[in-house]
Amino acid sequence: MSTDAALPPGIHFYDLHPAAADFRSEILTGLARSPRQLSPKFFYDQRGSQLFDAITDLPEYYPTRAELSILEQHGETIADFLGRECLLLELGSGSSRKIRVLLDALRPAAYMPMDISREHLLDSAQALVADYPELEVHAACVDYATELELPYCPGHLPRAAFFPGSSIGNFEPAQARELLQRVAGCLGKGGRLLIGVDLKKDAGVLHAAYNDEQQVTAAFNLNLLQRINRELDADFDLQAFAHEAFYNADAGRVEMHLVSRSDQTVTVAGHRFDFAAGESIHTESSYKYDIDEFLALAGQAGFVPDRVWTDDRQLFSVHCLRCTRTARASAGNAG
Ligand code: AVI
Repeated sequence: MSTDAALPPGIHFYDLHPAAADFRSEILTGLARSPRQLSPKFFYDQRGSQLFDAITDLPEYYPTRAELSILEQHGETIADFLGRECLLLELGSGSSRKIRVLLDALRPAAYMPMDISREHLLDSAQALVADYPELEVHAACVDYATELELPYCPGHLPRAAFFPGSSIGNFEPAQARELLQRVAGCLGKGGRLLIGVDLKKDAGVLHAAYNDEQQVTAAFNLNLLQRINRELDADFDLQAFAHEAFYNADAGRVEMHLVSRSDQTVTVAGHRFDFAAGESIHTESSYKYDIDEFLALAGQAGFVPDRVWTDDRQLFSVHCLRCTRTARASAGNAG
């Protein structure tokens, strides 16, 4: 569905995001599971997106700065690799901050930011065309975790995708592989993928990044309960749950949880959930990958490596990958 009506010239908007029914059923199912687990995609309501932006400015949260430093340092080479005058997709575009570093060098024929947060997507698209009036923007509100269709797919343009921020790390490895396969299906043979991936590192650095002193990450985690209260007529007491984040070295991931501070019962959309003191809701995994580990995963999804860079402190990696698979028919006729 395209709803361009009240948008400034240069922006097309496509609302492909399934609505509230999915939120309700996924939350109820996740809370009923043992152990309880919710998808991190639900963090990103308007407030959650703002809190995430605040996280990216925290002194302890190194990934954004490390990735930006790589993009700034290698922008021209990256633009050569992605190819100018392409259809450029961005998965999880958020505030579209990182793409700005590449736009001058890249000059895409069209830019398609994709994000689950409608308001954030539109605000960012409008800010972007204010600064880049020549840019043709096709903003798509999508849940790329479940589906990836291109609402605008001119067959003649080469395709490239940008998937920054190590958002791939928020998927279980098997799901990450499936998502990369979907990206490959959209790009087609010869399509390019630029992807930011957080590296394995000292557990202390990881611990600090997800347990910041100002407790913005705690607020981000707890905001999920606030959202459930608001949207599903629930009665979570935010004071009665604690933010917990730690590195699980065996699994290679940082885990975030909300831990019940006491025995308590919570009602969500008319359903009762009994929590024991100490019981947790697992709200996010953030997988960290060595370079070879990630290349193996991407290889299974149909990508071959071209270049990879890390920052000075070896905290973060940015991979340039080439797609070897043919595009899906529903994703246009490239490849
Ligand atoms: C979006 N994603 C890659 C972030 C991460 O680091 O996993 C989300 C986040 N969670 C806590 N802090 C940041």
